[in-house]
Amino acid sequence: MSNSKVAVILGAQWGDEGKGKLIDILSEKYKIVARATGGANAGHTIYLKDQNGERKKYVFHLVPSGMLNENCVCLLGNGVALHIPTFFQELKLLRENGIKTEGRVLISDRIHLLFEYHKIVDGIQEDMKGDKKVGTTKRGIGPCYTDKVRRNGIRMCDLLEFETFKDTYHENLKMLKSLYGDFEYDTEKELAELESLLPEIKKMVVDGAYYLNDALENGDNILVEGANGALLDIDHGTYPYVTSSSPTIGGICTGIGLGANKLTQVIGIMKAYCTRVGSGPFPTELTNELGDQIREQGGEYGSTTGRPRRCGWYDAVAGAYSVMINGLTELNLTKLDVLTGVENLKIATAYKLNGEKLRGFPANTKLLDKIEVEYIELPGWTEDISKAKTFEDLPENAKKYIETIEKLSNCKVTSIGIGPARDEMIFR
Ligand code: GDP
Ligand code: IMO
Ligand code: MG
Repeated sequence: MSNSKVAVILGAQWGDEGKGKLIDILSEKYKIVARATGGANAGHTIYLKDQNGERKKYVFHLVPSGMLNENCVCLLGNGVALHIPTFFQELKLLRENGIKTEGRVLISDRIHLLFEYHKIVDGIQEDMKGDKKVGTTKRGIGPCYTDKVRRNGIRMCDLLEFETFKDTYHENLKMLKSLYGDFEYDTEKELAELESLLPEIKKMVVDGAYYLNDALENGDNILVEGANGALLDIDHGTYPYVTSSSPTIGGICTGIGLGANKLTQVIGIMKAYCTRVGSGPFPTELTNELGDQIREQGGEYGSTTGRPRRCGWYDAVAGAYSVMINGLTELNLTKLDVLTGVENLKIATAYKLNGEKLRGFPANTKLLDKIEVEYIELPGWTEDISKAKTFEDLPENAKKYIETIEKLSNCKVTSIGIGPARDEMIFR
């Protein structure tokens, strides 16, 4: 894997593919790490070894995953939905662990702010949906982006003018109460907390688009951190069981203000199998003991909500679709180690409806519950692969498995995850 001027890291399945780990590894070679989309629905995990060789776990929800490399400056782009108290809590935790944060975190002045009332409305909407609930993270993501497109969202540049901001804040709350029914709410507490943080916030605010474009002009390079995953995309995902933003490539350009022609590398992250957390169709889901085995071996429990993740076979129909809609230039295949010991591996190669092969990943989510999935079977491996340093060190069957994924998904695999730590990654 080579490094380029602007590399984008995208979740290419249903989220939790291992974005945090790759961003942490690559950030050593980048000046800026810019987060483009999503909010605290994301949970990006990084394991760092301390001086005694003990693994310490960090989970990033809003703060970009480049923070553990102290030469990096981290920017929260305009496309993010920012809950300020969560963000400050994360910064505090980092400082308590000896990570320098001063002067290293910037926030776009166009970023939309997420308030406690968005979280309440998220819960109310889910309850209203009954058995059709999305299974959101209840972090207020949908309601915050709804305010944004309804054109009464509140942005960072509004917060900085605190007196007029307060008026808009009260108006929005009134509107939400008229739409969703009255709910108890402590405005004084929320406003007091925000006001107390204002001096700190002001030091971090920049015009994100000019900041990044100027940095490029000055010769700096940028690593862009995507959140969530392609199949959770509001346009391209399994609608309506999706998030409320665009985790695919278009959302990246919009979410930080960089032109498409500035992006030089688009790395999609895929697990060597699939997982999904929350409701919605999942064609290759394993609801048997093998699914449970993968969940336990892979530690497949949500980094944000702790919910057990649904597990299933690698899906090359979804994979090729994700490669196509994102224009992925390469893949990072993660968690190959988790499949060690599975005797026969399956990969989904096509979806069929009433005996007819579908062109690819269908729009109509209801179809996905009715389709028949066609698989190929490959023999697994039993050797421990966690110490492999090169592709050649991997067992023959593991190499064949990777090569089959490359062929069926139309994209080169340039890095392979064989464990959660920084050094457990093979680069080709
Ligand atoms: P993200 O949201 O895409 O950053 O992914 P998450 O952090 O939510 O979930 C990925 C999980 O897999 C984390 O616990 C990672 O530490 C772990 N992980 C990442 N890559 C590998 C790998 O190659 N092997 C194993 N065993 N675990 C990995
Ligand atoms: P990272 O960045 C996995 C899922 C939720 C739910 C749906 C909508 O860690 O990969 P939302 O709270 O966004 O309204 O929930 O999307 N979801 C994720 N699943 N990883 C994520 O982020 C996710 N972000 C949202 O579980 O099904
Ligand atoms: Mg995650």
